[in-house]
Amino acid sequence: MYKRMYMVFILMVAAVFVGGISSASSGDMNTALKRLASENGSFEFAVIGDNRSGDGVYSKITKQIRIRKPLFVMNTGDIIPTPGNRHQWQNFWRLSKEVPRPYFLVPGNHDINNVASQEVWRDEVDLPGNETYYSFTVGKNLFVVLNSCDPRYDRMIAGEQLAWLNRTLNPKKYEHQFVFLHHPLYLWKGASHYGMSLDRYPKARNRLHNLLSRKKVNVVFMGHEHTFKKQGKIDGVEYIVTGGAGAPLYSGFNNVVFVNVDGDIIKAKTVDRNGYLRDEFYIKGP
Ligand SMILES: [Fe+2]
Repeated sequence: MYKRMYMVFILMVAAVFVGGISSASSGDMNTALKRLASENGSFEFAVIGDNRSGDGVYSKITKQIRIRKPLFVMNTGDIIPTPGNRHQWQNFWRLSKEVPRPYFLVPGNHDINNVASQEVWRDEVDLPGNETYYSFTVGKNLFVVLNSCDPRYDRMIAGEQLAWLNRTLNPKKYEHQFVFLHHPLYLWKGASHYGMSLDRYPKARNRLHNLLSRKKVNVVFMGHEHTFKKQGKIDGVEYIVTGGAGAPLYSGFNNVVFVNVDGDIIKAKTVDRNGYLRDEFYIKGP
């Protein structure tokens, strides 16, 4: 009897321990979401992306995040090198232990490339909604994460996800709207994935962009290109690539972007892995 109770206790401790390594529990996420929703002052969040396969750089980036203590962190995807690899997920969570929570992840093509790796993603993360695309609020600001790696749709936002996005974005309800996805909608000539990102299917890309513009989205953060690039405003929507947190750089420097939302003003600072300020700009100016 006592032996059996002892074994149950050991298993419970082990379950909590494993949960603590991989991600926060659902209870923690629900509490964090309530806390974010009730924010009523200025706040700052961090955006990074494409940390996979660059543990040393990622550790330097996470150190800059720890120093600055943002309210939460966004990762635009390509979090592990090999889709569905649980060992690599464990390594990621080990390296991310001191990243401020909540830590919101966006699926990249190195994270989800088929149904099996999508199931591993769902096992390894603790995120809102269906965990592959979802939204949350910070005060009167809406944050939307999209999944451009849905195995049913090649590099496009389509089907029920597009319908959900249409229902979720609401410029009358929210003061600002921030969108995050892995694949850039537009790429410049000379970019490594030019013509092979969402620009692979211009009709579907235009449908998404037109929706983001019509719904007055302020800014879209993306990864996939291992660099930092402000692409400027297209029909009122600011597009920014933030994909330099560890994977081999295509150009530029390893980076983390800190975004400060203060009333009607959205200001960003881009910092390199050593903490040097490399850029400072308004997404929405005074
Ligand atoms: Fe990618």
